This record gives sequence, C-alpha cells and structure tokens, in this order.
Amino acid sequence: MTPRRIAEAFLPQRAHYWYARCKLASDPLYAGVGAALRGTTAPLLDIGCGLGLLAHTLRDQGFASDYLGIDNDGRKIVAARTAAARAGLDKVYFDDVDLAAEPFPSHRGSVVVLDVLQFLPERAANDLLERAADCVVSGARLVIRSGLDNADARTRFTRAVDVFSHCVGWMNVAPNRYPTRSKLESRLARRGLRSRFTPLKGALPFNNWLIVAEKA
Ligand SMILES: C[S@@+](CC[C@H](N)C(=O)[O-])C[C@H]1O[C@@H](n2cnc3c(N)ncnc32)[C@H](O)[C@@H]1O
Repeated sequence: MTPRRIAEAFLPQRAHYWYARCKLASDPLYAGVGAALRGTTAPLLDIGCGLGLLAHTLRDQGFASDYLGIDNDGRKIVAARTAAARAGLDKVYFDDVDLAAEPFPSHRGSVVVLDVLQFLPERAANDLLERAADCVVSGARLVIRSGLDNADARTRFTRAVDVFSHCVGWMNVAPNRYPTRSKLESRLARRGLRSRFTPLKGALPFNNWLIVAEKA
C-alpha cells in the first residue's frame, strides 16, 4: 500500500492524514522495523504506538501475527483503532496504557519501542527496557529506535525536534533524556539479549539508531 492509501484510513482527520503521509514518505523507520521483524511469527507488542502506523506497514510487508499497540495518549489510541478498522487490519488491537504509571502488560513475543524512551523519566525508561527484554522469547526480537546521547550537534537537533513536537501539541510530554549506547547495550545484555546498532535517521540530521536485540 502506498503512504497515501494508508493515510486515507485516518480521514476525515486531516491532521492525522497529513502526518501519516509525511511520516511514511520521509522516515525509513517503518521499512527498517519491517526488515528487522522479517521471518518472525511471534505476537508483537508496540510500546508508545501513537497512531499505529506500524501496524499498517507491517501488514503490508507480510507480518501476519497478532499486534497490540499501547500508548498513553487516548486520542491517538481512538484514532489508531478507527483507522485500523477502516483499513480492515485483522488481529490488530490498541490499548490506552501509561507506562510511567501502570504495570507493564503481560506479553511473550517480540516488542518494539520506537521513539519513546526519551519521553519517559529515566527510571521508568530503564524499567520499561528490562520488562520489554524479558518478554522476548527465542525467535522473537526487541526492536528499539532511539536517539543516543553523544553530546553532539545531531543529539541537540534530535532533542530540539522533540521539544518542538511538544510545544506544538503533537507530543503530550517533553523529552527527558536520551540513553547512551553503552548503558543500553549492557542493560540488554544483563537480560540475556545481544544487540545490533544501526544508524536510522532519514534525510534530516537526527541521531537516531535502530537497535535489534535477540536472545544471545
Ligand atoms: C514520537 S511518538 C512515536 C510513535 C510511534 N512509536 C511511531 O514511531 O510512529 C512517541 C509516543 O510515545 C507515547 N508515550 C509517551 N510517554 C508514554 C507513556 N508514559 N506511556 C505510554 N506511551 C507514552 C506518546 O503518546 C507518543 O505517541
């Protein structure tokens, strides 16, 4: 499906339609996650799923297992449910959950955490990573996209865009802190996962990385 066809499922909400079109056309994230999950069949938990764009692109790429997206922005969850139903996505579910305040959902399979870690308080982000890592079974994957704290111009640009998203009301919280590669890698290793880091930033100077972790 083209970005336009996916975006049409969000009409008549024009802001969501244009967000989906621009995001899908400009960000290599969804193709990257599809490639990272290729060949897996375990159910997928999408933490901080936003509008649930990933569910549409994964179905497009042949990923047919159960998908559950959770987010603490109730309006996005309503929009995600409506669009998934309009697009006829099967076995795709959404729930309103605040991961900084509520228990981590019970899940066994793959987990994705895309552009979310920086919005959580440090302790909640660390807990989330550990709970997510513990969900991963053999043959499943934990896929994370995150800015990394390299204290450089790319890191500052990444933070500036996240602050802007909050100021214009697209994000319900401002960014907190970005993890460092070494801390992220060692935290996952302590939970028995081996991780690979690949830059994934598109045309703009973000400091975004795709991290794919699986059982060592
Ligand atoms: C930048 S968006 C990423 C959306 C989606 N993962 C994607 O890449 O298309 C970050 C998402 O994290 C969600 N989020 C932030 N804090 C959260 C929390 N405490 N619990 C659940 N979701 C949260 C926001 O509502 C937002 O939809």
